[in-house]
Parts: sequence; structure tokens; C-alpha cells
Amino acid sequence: MRILVTGAAGFIGSSVCDRLLADGHQVLGVDNFNAFYDPAIKARNIAAAEKHPDFECVRGDICNPRTVAEAFERFAPERVIHLAAWAGVRPSIQHPAIYQRVNIEGLMVLLEQCRVSGVDRFVFASSSSVYGARKTVPFREDDPVDNPISPYAATKKAGELLCYTWHHLHGLHTHCLRFFTVYGPRQRPEMAIHKFARLIDGGETLTLFGDGTSSRDYTYIDDIVDGVVASVERVCGYRIYNLGESETTTLVELVDHIGRALGKTPQVQHAPMQPGDVPRTFADVSRARAELDYAPRIKIAEGIQRFAAWFRAQPG
Ligand SMILES: NC(=O)c1ccc[n+]([C@@H]2O[C@H](COP(=O)([O-])OP(=O)(O)OC[C@H]3O[C@@H](n4cnc5c(N)ncnc54)[C@H](O)[C@@H]3O)[C@@H](O)[C@H]2O)c1
Repeated sequence: MRILVTGAAGFIGSSVCDRLLADGHQVLGVDNFNAFYDPAIKARNIAAAEKHPDFECVRGDICNPRTVAEAFERFAPERVIHLAAWAGVRPSIQHPAIYQRVNIEGLMVLLEQCRVSGVDRFVFASSSSVYGARKTVPFREDDPVDNPISPYAATKKAGELLCYTWHHLHGLHTHCLRFFTVYGPRQRPEMAIHKFARLIDGGETLTLFGDGTSSRDYTYIDDIVDGVVASVERVCGYRIYNLGESETTTLVELVDHIGRALGKTPQVQHAPMQPGDVPRTFADVSRARAELDYAPRIKIAEGIQRFAAWFRAQPG
């Protein structure tokens, strides 16, 4: 199949591209290599894919309708996996406008181009953050998600709504995938596990927001890639899926895992919870299990070991 992947040079996007190529698909990536984090990291992420004869990456902005139209005209994709976004909760409070522009307007450019080009299968990267500060766990896809507590979360909820509208009006078959904190090799450098590893490895003190009992459902990258690939192969109708590990880890336990994997004792200080941060996430993945054969495999202890091995092998 010919699959267009936006955000192809990012953490999840590059991992998805590698798998699609290994499975024999033709892939056109689109990524603008923005400076949210070091673009040299993104270049390394897709270095292997760029050697593959069935891969090409357009360096361009999804908010530019002409760039997107040219990519669609040249490649004639059969399906689209839309991962490009400004990610992260805390920076979205400081810079809401860029989140609105890329995550909402950029999505709309792609949806419109699908309509114009007759592409009728679309996978959209949503987020567990749409569940807000919900206390009842595990989170299910039909729970109410009307109270996002960060601009980032609001853009992802808005994205799900826009996808529904294009599905309703134009028959665009769409899956919205709610990823639960993804980690593993290539994880974005500002995300907690990667940042904590850097600080612990350097013998620096890390700041834990809250009393350490907040918890997350951490999902290993290979499991997420399995879910994305199963989704793009089967996308039909309009469906929302949780993609998580369906297990929770507290912040204190997480730091402990990272310290053990790196063979170092973490130095920790505490600070108040940050605005926008949710106290817990926990995915009910029964819908994805039933309809996508999604079967997350990598437990946190094993996943952190694998992450640490990758982390140690990084330059600089
Ligand atoms: N990593 C997680 O834990 C997580 C959790 C929930 C949802 N998500 C979502 O998954 C997707 C991928 O996340 P990630 O962690 O790989 O992030 P990432 O920042 O590593 O990847 C996003 C990529 O999109 C590109 N991009 C951003 N704006 C663009 C634009 N205007 N035009 C073209 N390219 C652009 C970036 O350069 C980057 O390479 C995002 O939509 C994110 O919101 C991620």
C-alpha cells in the first residue's frame, strides 16, 4: 500500500515508518523538522528509512495547503497516518497559538486534501490527555471527554471532532488513536523518562511534581507501532481506540525503574503539581484488543531496560 505519514521524523512517526517499510509498504513522510527539539535528532530518527528505496520524506509544513497538495498529487497515497503535531502538555500552556495552528488547522488541511484527492482512509493520533483529570479508571472510549485541562488536550479533542465531521460529510473512514504516554528508543528528549534518565545519569537532582503518587499508563513504542499498523490496515467507519499498556506506574516507581536500569541512585526533590498535568491515566484497551487484535506485550521494567540500552548508545 502507499501510505503517507505526517510527523515521519518524530519519535512515533519514524518508528511507524520503519515498520511499514519492513512490511513492504511504500511510504511518503512529511515533516518540517521544527525546533520543538533538536532537528538533528529527527534526522537521525529517519536516517535508516531514508536509505530504503520505498521511502521519501518531504521537508514541509502540513499547515501549507500547497505543500500538502503537491505531496498527495505526486505520491497518490491510499491511506494517511497523521502524527504531525505540537506535542506536550506544559508548553501548550505557554504557547497555545502554535498548538491551535498545527494541531487543528494543520489537521484540517489534511482532511480537506483527502477529500479533494479521494483518499478515504485516515488514522489520527489523539491522546489520553483528552480524558482530563478524570478520577474513574480505567478510561474507556465512551467516557465523557468534555473537560480537557490543557490547550494540547483541547486540540486533540477538537481533532477527534473534526475527523468525525469529515467522516460524516465526506465518508472519510477514520480511526482516532488515543496514545497513552509512549516511551522507548527515540522518545522525545523533553518527555519524563528521557529527561529523568539524562539527569540521573549525570548525577543531577530531578524535580518530581506532586508527592510522587501520580500515575501513568506507559506504553512501549513497539506496542504503539503494532496498534497504529493494525489500525491503518483495517480503518473503516469512525472509531476511537485507546492504545495503552493497561497497567499503571507511579512517578516514584518510574524513577526507581530508571535508576535501576542505569545502575545509579536517583537524587530527587519534590515541587507542587503543575497546571495541566493530570493525576492519573489508565487505559481500558478491550476495544482495541477485540477490533484490532491489539495485544500490548512490554511491561514497564522490561521497557525501561530497553530504553536505557538505547539511551546509553546515543552520541553525546
Ligand atoms: N509520545 C507520546 O507519549 C504521545 C502521547 C499521546 C499522543 N501523542 C501524539 O502522537 C504524535 C507523535 O508524537 P511524538 O511523541 O512522536 O512527537 P514528535 O514531536 O517526536 O513528532 C512529531 C513530528 O511532527 C513534526 N511536525 C510538527 N509540526 C509539523 C508541521 N507543521 N508540519 C510538518 N511536520 C510537523 C515534528 O517535526 C516531529 O518530527 C503527535 O500527534 C502527538 O500529539 C504522542
